[in-house]
Amino acid sequence: MIILGIETSCDETSAALVADGRTLLGEVTATQMEIHAAFGGVVPEVASRHHVTSITQVVDKVMKDTQMSLDDVDAIAVTCGPGLLGSLLVGVSAAKGYALASGKPLIGVHHIAGHVAAAAIESDVAWPVLCLVVSGGHTELLTVDKSFQFEKLGATKDDAAGEAYDKVARLLGLAYPGGPKVDKLAQIGNASAYDFPRALLDEDTFDFSFSGLKSAVNNALTKQRNRREEIVSEDVCASFQAAVIDVLLEKTRRAIATTGLRQVVVAGGVAANQGLRQAMESFAVAEQVDVVFPPLRFCTDNAAMIAAAGYYRFCQGHQDDLYLNAYAQLPL
Ligand code: KG4
Ligand code: ZN
Repeated sequence: MIILGIETSCDETSAALVADGRTLLGEVTATQMEIHAAFGGVVPEVASRHHVTSITQVVDKVMKDTQMSLDDVDAIAVTCGPGLLGSLLVGVSAAKGYALASGKPLIGVHHIAGHVAAAAIESDVAWPVLCLVVSGGHTELLTVDKSFQFEKLGATKDDAAGEAYDKVARLLGLAYPGGPKVDKLAQIGNASAYDFPRALLDEDTFDFSFSGLKSAVNNALTKQRNRREEIVSEDVCASFQAAVIDVLLEKTRRAIATTGLRQVVVAGGVAANQGLRQAMESFAVAEQVDVVFPPLRFCTDNAAMIAAAGYYRFCQGHQDDLYLNAYAQLPL
């Protein structure tokens, strides 16, 4: 079954064709990263305008690259939320147009379901699994059952993990998007240089909190700047990253103990983090669990993951009509 996936929830305009939820036939993504870097973050109005000019081009190109047409597609899946409303509306409107023109079924997909489905593209995932979602907008621990239904165990009470990475990067004067830059510097820094807080570890909850950590970094840097002390960005990044990873690992360990699930999927943009990937590898050995990361290219936003999630939704009999809307906030 071939699904055309469309993703426009933030600053990537992406279209992909995926067979049976796991075989990538083709993907074309127009990134706006450099445009938004000039502003230090994504500007919603600018993002939606660029989606408008790119959307039909990326769909046309993926069809051309794979030598396919809408006749070869079984259904059209599109991210309908959560995300930037203006950006989402472009993808949803385009998907409705393609569905109407071709008569093919339309499937609205939750963006986080897409991040989870990314782990099963070109690799084996035996559902049910425990899923740690760490993206720019979300930090959540979920269970995902055989029918691709989700149950939320916990979530961040304030900033998402990726958001904390981007904010700390900003405090250090690193350009947007800061996550990958902090990751790189952390690899050569001293993780014990600063003793940053690990929030909510004493509480019996699967929730997270990262805003205090960001404030702690800000306070430490302000203090050092006032004293005219040299700031070693590598050490700040390594110490910050160690605090994030400690919390993610400990909460995941507790969720494994509670649910009894032995397979953990780590999804979302922060799943591209090298420090987290290495720490999770050691964690998998110590806890005797199987940890699955999506291939790097499917960690950050892409349409292949939306096509994959659309496939699972379609197999469960889900289909939307042309009244499908876009939602900035959308429960899983
Ligand atoms: O999943 P994603 O592409 O978009 C959302 O759905 O939010 O995630 C983007 C987030 C950004 O905050 C970015 O800084 C972070 O993922 N990110 C990373 C890395 N690569 C991307 N954070 C830490 N280390 C990385 N290597
Ligand atoms: Zn995302």
